[in-house]
Amino acid sequence: MAYSDTLLSEHDIERLFRKVNEQGRRYATVPLHAPGETQNGSTGLEWKGMRPPKGRHWRSSPEVLEELDKQGLIEWSATGVSRKKIFADEKVGKKAQDIWEFKDPQYPSYPTEKNLDLLKFMIRASSSEGDIVLDCFSGSGTTIVAAQECGRKWIGIDCSEQAIEVAQKRLSQIQGDLFSGPVEYTLIEQLDLADS
Ligand SMILES: C[S@@+](CC[C@H](N)C(=O)[O-])C[C@H]1O[C@@H](n2cnc3c(N)ncnc32)[C@H](O)[C@@H]1O
Repeated sequence: MAYSDTLLSEHDIERLFRKVNEQGRRYATVPLHAPGETQNGSTGLEWKGMRPPKGRHWRSSPEVLEELDKQGLIEWSATGVSRKKIFADEKVGKKAQDIWEFKDPQYPSYPTEKNLDLLKFMIRASSSEGDIVLDCFSGSGTTIVAAQECGRKWIGIDCSEQAIEVAQKRLSQIQGDLFSGPVEYTLIEQLDLADS
């Protein structure tokens, strides 16, 4: 599930997480099962004497559900319906919507340059800090700049010298990390295979 960087407002938190636990933490609950029957896997098995409802499967294996229950992360209704607790303070941002609105850069440094925030949004939604992002058509380097600024490692490849120059210029204009100077990277130039 992708989340944007837009932090939830107080209003969003109160609207989406209506319940408050004994420690004062806001939470909501979600079903423990999802559409689709498991044919052979553990998510179709019995848990606490119950099978998932018809046409559905447990979101986690019975062992994981048991562990979540032990940790108090499952809420039981008076009629024995169980749901998973989701805490507001563990959500970093709003759930991403289906339509993303990002404008192309107004003054691009390269004809096909993409919106930096769009690339950061995609990288944060699909990877974790320290992961490696590969852009094998890196152009002006928007993806690698975004990866760098999101705390990812990166590899950029392009056959155009002009693109590499633009990407290097952009990398020289951003900070490496809080304590270091410029971004450090290794430039590997491909040998012309015709010469070897
Ligand atoms: C649309 S741009 C890439 C934009 C980039 N991904 C970004 O984040 O902004 C496409 C790039 O692919 C490069 N390219 C096209 N064919 C290639 C190839 N066979 N090998 C390497 N780069 C290639 C072009 O030089 C161009 O810079």
